[in-house]
Amino acid sequence: MQEAVTMADHKIICWDCGKVITDQYADVCPACGGLLTIKVDLEPLKAKKPKDLHKVPIGVWRYADFMPVDPKNKISIQEGGTPLYQCSSLGKEIGINNLWVKYEGANPTGSFKDRGMTVGISHANEIGAKTVGCASTGNTSASLAAYAAKAGMRCIVFLPSGKVAAGKLAQAMFFGAKVVSIDGNFDEALDIARKLSEERSMYLLNSINPYRPEGQKSVLFEIMDQLAYDVPDRIVLPVGNAGNISAVHKGITELKEIGWIEKVPMLTGIQAEGSMPITRAFEARKLDFVPEEHPETIATAIRIGNPVSGRKALRAIYDTGGCSVSVTDQEILAAQRLLGRKEGVGVEPASAASVAGAKKLREAGVIGKKERVVCICTGNALKDPDTIISSSEPVIKSSKDLKSIRKIMSQ
Ligand code: F0G
Repeated sequence: MQEAVTMADHKIICWDCGKVITDQYADVCPACGGLLTIKVDLEPLKAKKPKDLHKVPIGVWRYADFMPVDPKNKISIQEGGTPLYQCSSLGKEIGINNLWVKYEGANPTGSFKDRGMTVGISHANEIGAKTVGCASTGNTSASLAAYAAKAGMRCIVFLPSGKVAAGKLAQAMFFGAKVVSIDGNFDEALDIARKLSEERSMYLLNSINPYRPEGQKSVLFEIMDQLAYDVPDRIVLPVGNAGNISAVHKGITELKEIGWIEKVPMLTGIQAEGSMPITRAFEARKLDFVPEEHPETIATAIRIGNPVSGRKALRAIYDTGGCSVSVTDQEILAAQRLLGRKEGVGVEPASAASVAGAKKLREAGVIGKKERVVCICTGNALKDPDTIISSSEPVIKSSKDLKSIRKIMSQ
């Protein structure tokens, strides 16, 4: 019988066979190849109430009691604590009166990845990792590069060539990561990163690392705090590698376990039409998915054909009575624009997929008129300036002459 890791009161276990894992570099179960997860001892929380945690400002580390890292060792750039906007104008437009947007673009590096990264890098620090790395469609690499800089670690990131939005690439380069452009897609880049981690050349910080979802589940805790524990009917979010929806589900399961909620929100995963293995599996009511070899979408963040946490995502959807639907690139761009023009909220295309999906499900009657819906918008519009520039009205060129400027104003 193997011993559990001794750090804090938690253990890494296999999500499939339940075996306790001691190898800190393992990204799957050495016995059955299953996915890993972390079991945190939640017993002490059963005697507490949500308000007992409010001494700490809202953010990932308010929920330290749920985290498998000693907060004394934390490496933080003040992640989380993002706004939850009530979006009445947008809601009116898409027929959902009670619509909310959790704006993850307000995180330090502009995406939800910072939540998982603060916990992941803090753990990397605890085990003495010197080099960290990941494969990424962009945001994970931007986030990891920033946290590695803060932690004083070497960082290497593997990106699918030509398919990473400019803002994300710029961040990874700026924060000092070694940036490697792979002649292949994200799934192929992740295979490479996993092999390098297996040979101990680096500590892998993709969401297959079970410490990452631990931080990411904090978005659910924040939504609950911001809604004063009045559980929403549905949470809608984009699905790429499927780490985030699985993390949110874990958060829900934990709140149920400690008795802080009874009702659960229906988890609703949105994929892009050119990259939709989870939606296809859901439509066929399958527990597993068939990978897609050539994923394609303008929402490059979710251009993923073989989501590593895909089976966890499907369980999240079935367990909560949710669903999965795909949206076209056109629908994504229209939703992105609507959110900007109706609410003044700028999100990147993948994030807009959640709003596009909610709109589509409302039109199909799956989302009821009175449902209270929270869309998680995962990344900032500035991540992908090229897409917003090409989908907006062009800049108007003018001489300095006031007469011609007045003419422009009157048009
Ligand atoms: N939204 C954004 C903006 C993302 O960057 C990602 C994933 C997702 C949604 C999907 O989340 O993978 O947990 O299902 N981006 C990863 C990356 C893959 O490398 O930055 P998921």
